[in-house]
Amino acid sequence: MNLEQSIDEAIKLIKKSKHAVAFTGAGISVESGIPPFRGPGGIWEKYDPTLFDIGFFLEHPKKSWELIRKIFFESFGDAKPHAAHTVLAALEKRGTLKAIITQNIDNLHQSAGSTRVIQFHGNSNYFICIDCNKKYELDYITFDKLPPVCEVCGGILKPDFVFFGEPIPQQAHIDSMYEAEHSDLLILVGTTGIIMPASLIPFVAKRNGAKIIEINPNKSQYTDEIVDIFLQGKAKVVFEKIAAKMKLDA
Ligand code: APR
Repeated sequence: MNLEQSIDEAIKLIKKSKHAVAFTGAGISVESGIPPFRGPGGIWEKYDPTLFDIGFFLEHPKKSWELIRKIFFESFGDAKPHAAHTVLAALEKRGTLKAIITQNIDNLHQSAGSTRVIQFHGNSNYFICIDCNKKYELDYITFDKLPPVCEVCGGILKPDFVFFGEPIPQQAHIDSMYEAEHSDLLILVGTTGIIMPASLIPFVAKRNGAKIIEINPNKSQYTDEIVDIFLQGKAKVVFEKIAAKMKLDA
């Protein structure tokens, strides 16, 4: 079956589903100009992941913040969503897609109009004081004086995304498991599926009888294990085809 035929089959599953859920990773944002973590041009090819361990952040907040500014703000601060993000938002508006579980911290699903977005690894648009837990938004951070500090207690602010060695936000974990257990269709987009515990979510959906569609130019650890329809291609390209075939305004 070629890509066009596979997309037709995938659309049949999407139309038939009663509780479709999307599970997205860094690959969905690559065509928005945000590099993946692994693979060609990946962030972990340039930077040592241990620099994003919570222990390193607490011991060297200034150095850690300088890296955070460089990687997560200077390089992809003005990234915009593309067809993959907007099609998922359109499917939510149609009532087909009930939730997106994303490993991404780039806020592109929300920018595309999705409202039920479960942020498994947090969100880089929010910050939290490590002493008093006061929350801040991006406009409070000036980036010229690092690390930013809390206006109430003077404590250091940390981006509200999950560093290595930190727990997954409890509500995100609960909500993700609920959606995986109730989904009859899981749409996997752009993830290698190697980081636990996020990577377990597709297996939970499969175990509960969900059909699995995967969009990725490369095979992942899921492709030969649990995927029913593999749409081998870049997310923007594949979703533009889906939008055209489903007459989605995306
Ligand atoms: N369209 C779709 N998928 C793509 C594209 C594209 N244009 N380009 C690359 N990909 C795929 C790659 O083939 C790969 O499978 O996106 C995936 C990127 O993999 P990772 O960088 O490992 O991203 P992800 O799976 O989201 O990483 C999970 O690891 O470092 C942690 O917290 C970080 O959330 C992240 C987690």
